[in-house]
Amino acid sequence: MGDMLKGRVAVITGAGNGLGRADAIGFAAQGARVVVNDLGTSYDGYGSSHNDADRVVESIRKEGGVAVANYASVATEEGARSIIQQAVDEFGRIDILVNNAGIIRDHRDIDSIITEDWDLMVKTHLYGMMYCTRAATAYMKKQNYGRILCTSSHIGLGFAGQAAYSTVKEGIVGFARTVAREMAKFGTTCNILRPLAAWRGIGPKFKNQKLEVNQPEDVAALATYLVSESADPINGCIFEVFHGHVGIFVEPAPLEQTLTKEGRWTPEELMEAVPAKLTAGRSREVFPETLPDMYRMALK
Ligand SMILES: NC(=O)c1ccc[n+]([C@@H]2O[C@H](COP(=O)([O-])OP(=O)(O)OC[C@H]3O[C@@H](n4cnc5c(N)ncnc54)[C@H](O)[C@@H]3O)[C@@H](O)[C@H]2O)c1
Repeated sequence: MGDMLKGRVAVITGAGNGLGRADAIGFAAQGARVVVNDLGTSYDGYGSSHNDADRVVESIRKEGGVAVANYASVATEEGARSIIQQAVDEFGRIDILVNNAGIIRDHRDIDSIITEDWDLMVKTHLYGMMYCTRAATAYMKKQNYGRILCTSSHIGLGFAGQAAYSTVKEGIVGFARTVAREMAKFGTTCNILRPLAAWRGIGPKFKNQKLEVNQPEDVAALATYLVSESADPINGCIFEVFHGHVGIFVEPAPLEQTLTKEGRWTPEELMEAVPAKLTAGRSREVFPETLPDMYRMALK
């Protein structure tokens, strides 16, 4: 046991599996008292169960840590409120919120997106994050202390077949940046992860050794540091993290070049000037160049 999070109270949403589970166990091992929230649903959001959260609580307690289970869905206002309330009722405060709960529902083509899937993705990732953060920041302001971590993805940079997932994951970045700005004066930071770790929903197409080497615990180590007091100067940053690798994004990307003239451009002038000066050398570039090599290899 370490003491990086001694005396702190943490809520981790979706902590029954994968990354959230590793965070919960890692935070507890550093002295945090943890609310292990998990709806106990499938990787694509079907069904619910108490088992996942209960199992994580049990492992934490077995190691001498302090944890309680919460089974609410972050996707409902009442559910999210109950998660934060449980931290305050059981432990008297909330210092750390990890917005981690997530599901994936893919589509074949953009023109076959199913509205119900889109709704559940937005409800889980975006509403869930907003509901939990809204409830938690009310306490963090009063305490003048807080640490919030939001879980984005490289897929947010654009990925065929995952329009809803890209949308919500970039929405998370925008939201978290604003939280970082607003909450800085209340001793609270908000940072963002684009992780890569073995995932229970991964299909056979992507299952290979290169992905399996990336374990949730690799990501949890960075999460633990970022939610600790020592990470106080780090706010509004976006990290990528996988086994043995931690990177930081330059975001928003700086403007590369501009075109300026006195007055308004005409479409005809832009037809000449844009390809000649702004986009010279580019041809239908849509693949995100910032995807890490691991992803590149795994997704070929
Ligand atoms: N694994 C990766 O490589 C990876 C990469 C990028 C982003 N992410 C993101 O990290 C987060 C965790 O992913 P994971 O790989 O651990 O997935 P996972 O499926 O193993 O775990 C997600 C957990 O969230 C829970 N959950 C789902 N909907 C919920 C809801 N409405 N309320 C409460 N709990 C809910 C599930 O029951 C599950 O236990 C997700 O937001 C995911 O999008 C993962």
